[in-house]
Amino acid sequence: MHLYKKEPERRDIELARNSVSALNFELKKEFGNLKDPKMILWAGDFHLHQIEPYQKEIDRKYEKIDCSRQLELCLEEINTLQVEPLAVILGGDITDNSFRGEWMEFRRLIEKTGFNKITIPLFGNHEHTYSMDAKEMDLIWRDMGISSWTRIEDPNEYFYSVVFGDYKLIILDTVSSNGNMMSDAQRSFLRDEVIDSSHNILIFQHKHIMPALNWLDEGIFRDKGMVDIIDSSEKVLGVFSGHTHKSSLWNYRDKVYGSFPAVCYGIGDKTGWGGIILDQEKIVKIFIKDICTESYDDCAGFRLQQGSFKFLESEDFEKSPLLNPEFWCRKAE
Ligand SMILES: [Fe+2]
Repeated sequence: MHLYKKEPERRDIELARNSVSALNFELKKEFGNLKDPKMILWAGDFHLHQIEPYQKEIDRKYEKIDCSRQLELCLEEINTLQVEPLAVILGGDITDNSFRGEWMEFRRLIEKTGFNKITIPLFGNHEHTYSMDAKEMDLIWRDMGISSWTRIEDPNEYFYSVVFGDYKLIILDTVSSNGNMMSDAQRSFLRDEVIDSSHNILIFQHKHIMPALNWLDEGIFRDKGMVDIIDSSEKVLGVFSGHTHKSSLWNYRDKVYGSFPAVCYGIGDKTGWGGIILDQEKIVKIFIKDICTESYDDCAGFRLQQGSFKFLESEDFEKSPLLNPEFWCRKAE
């Protein structure tokens, strides 16, 4: 079974859209019990590339997977949600190399699916495959015509914040030119955004800072200065990432640390997207939704996904043997 060059047919799209009804039912029930519910979605790790002509030697996986097909079905599913999200975080590795044609592929799919949610882009390691020229990136994004995206000043380190009502979303860039640590400039930006914030804060970045239990934990983003800033603020509700192509959820000192699945292919997990449900300054629930499609898992190979969803249960990180005391603290009993 190969998914390469397999544009979804009408029946594939119908199945994907129908698979959202169980989630819609649960969300309606959940929102009915809350006072001021809000939802933020995450969809990331698209690894979009042009099908033909591809601009560099194609990765082995991408000879099997049509990443555009996976994203198209994901967007169709999100379009079918009956609860309007505040925004959809585009969780990095949006493109495979940040080539113009790959960004234009994103625009093509947005147009094709009539996707009109507010999107918040962040950069993953694949956006940093090559050093990027600020003027060229600015031009590409201008040609894409998504005027709501925060303008790129330095494509080699793209970080910013946006506010939606009571919530501030801080978008970080886990560029690894400095090991798996952020630059001094980005760390002082984070400190300024967090200290004395009147808003509740959600942090979004591509690389994970807590284990997901696959090989990508080798490149976990470990920045003690960042951890200390997060830990010092009651306003930070959670830190969310992608990169792992596998979901995970931890609880640590009343904050949550989650990784969402990938859209293009899994690594020991299904492909999917997810959401964070908020109410009155708290995270209430986090869900992930498998894309209803044929998908590829780098560990298990091809599989047919039914498109189900689940609420994630968090594990207590302070009790985990995975906690590295150089970066985190154990609970004082
Ligand atoms: Fe990725």
